[in-house]
Amino acid sequence: MNNVVIIGSQWGDEGKGKIVDILTEKADMVVRFQGGNNAGHTLVVDGETYALHLVPSGILHPGKKALIAGGVVVDPDVLLEEMDHLMARGVALTPENFMVSERAHVIMPYHRLLDQAREGRRGEGRIGTTGRGIGPAYEDKAARIGLRLGDLRDLDFFRDQAALALAEKNHLLSGLYGLQPCALDDLAARAGLWQRRLTPYIGDTWRALQSALVRGDKLLFEGAQAVQLDLDHGSYPFVTSSNPLSGAVAVGAGLAPKLIGNVLALVKAYSTRVGAGPFPTEQENDLGLRLREKGAEFGTTTGRPRRCGWLDAVVVRHSLTLCGADHLAVTKLDVLSGLPELKIATHYLLDGEKIDFFPADIRAAGRCRPVYETLPGFEGDLSGARKLADLPAGARGYLDRLSELCGIPPAFVSVGPGREETISLHDFF
Ligand code: GDP
Ligand code: IMO
Ligand code: MG
Repeated sequence: MNNVVIIGSQWGDEGKGKIVDILTEKADMVVRFQGGNNAGHTLVVDGETYALHLVPSGILHPGKKALIAGGVVVDPDVLLEEMDHLMARGVALTPENFMVSERAHVIMPYHRLLDQAREGRRGEGRIGTTGRGIGPAYEDKAARIGLRLGDLRDLDFFRDQAALALAEKNHLLSGLYGLQPCALDDLAARAGLWQRRLTPYIGDTWRALQSALVRGDKLLFEGAQAVQLDLDHGSYPFVTSSNPLSGAVAVGAGLAPKLIGNVLALVKAYSTRVGAGPFPTEQENDLGLRLREKGAEFGTTTGRPRRCGWLDAVVVRHSLTLCGADHLAVTKLDVLSGLPELKIATHYLLDGEKIDFFPADIRAAGRCRPVYETLPGFEGDLSGARKLADLPAGARGYLDRLSELCGIPPAFVSVGPGREETISLHDFF
């Protein structure tokens, strides 16, 4: 089958953008299917860095098509800014190569305000969201009071729908959070601007996808966030409000489940997490600081320092099983170079009992103590490695053990942020 789904197997920021960019060379179309601009996908091409939040990471390859499907929530201001930025850097974005679904829900200014106000009110108990309005936008989708990009075609209709939503939102904004209410006229004026600029790009991405399938095109589905942040399967409530697992392609893009195809799971060679929530292998010590510094672990979207720790095979295995992953893409192996020994958590101890899964109960998850296996470290600059034999023996041993614990082989090993700093072991297309 010609389809590949890219998913994150940890807590996000595994390097999905880099691998999507590489795979796009041989693909025809790249599709985002969930999440929103909470994502930050970084590509480094010919020494130039691109940070993408909504536009699919394949966009740097001329001649390929990029879709934002209906399962994504879109902040039109952010999308327009990103499009302008890319075009200013010479990236072609035309209605021929880029389409956004008419079914995608709009992140409205009040969603952002509510996300931030709610987090502020939660204080110590905050989730640590990106503050981009993701949760409130998905809430309105489920509550059936959301606005969709296709609604922009009729500004009177958009205004009427916004008025319905505002009746509730302004009550919350001013009554509960003591903020200024949103003015309907301001929203309507903004919608006019969005309509003028975005209309050429808004369309039926599902039909574009079906046509591509009929043509036998090679399709790449770009996951955002990661399985441990999944609304249903992650460490609830410290999760995002969408489903980042592979099955979400079926709903978010409109692809029959049996057509999902290959699932490529991204595994960072260690663990990171941004925001709050249980993180059994976290290292709040010199090692954690060292990983953060060497791995440049600061959020692409918010700039927040990422929490860092050892690789957690319990978490990764859970994600791989949920996603039906066939291959791994192991990233940031270079960051582990220079450490005398390396640890991988293979199990947890929960109240003295050995378990091999991440408990659903958040309080139990917080009590899990990792059981580690220790492996020899390795030294040297890995960034020039282009085949496994170029890696030091310790790095190969670490990869072998990781892949053994996961039960599937690596298709890519990434040894630096650059497009070329990669060992490719499998041809998907
Ligand atoms: P994503 O959200 O999964 O796309 O990942 P991010 O882009 O948020 O975070 C990954 C970061 O690591 C980015 O800054 C990448 O440029 C960088 N990166 C990706 N792969 C590697 C690698 O193998 N080694 C190093 N040192 N950096 C990498
Ligand atoms: P990419 O695609 C890492 C985290 C936030 C927070 C939680 C909920 O770059 O891997 P939200 O704003 O979604 O309501 O926040 O999810 N989070 C991410 N962490 N990478 C991401 O995306 C993330 N998107 C959301 O930090 O803990
Ligand atoms: Mg990221």
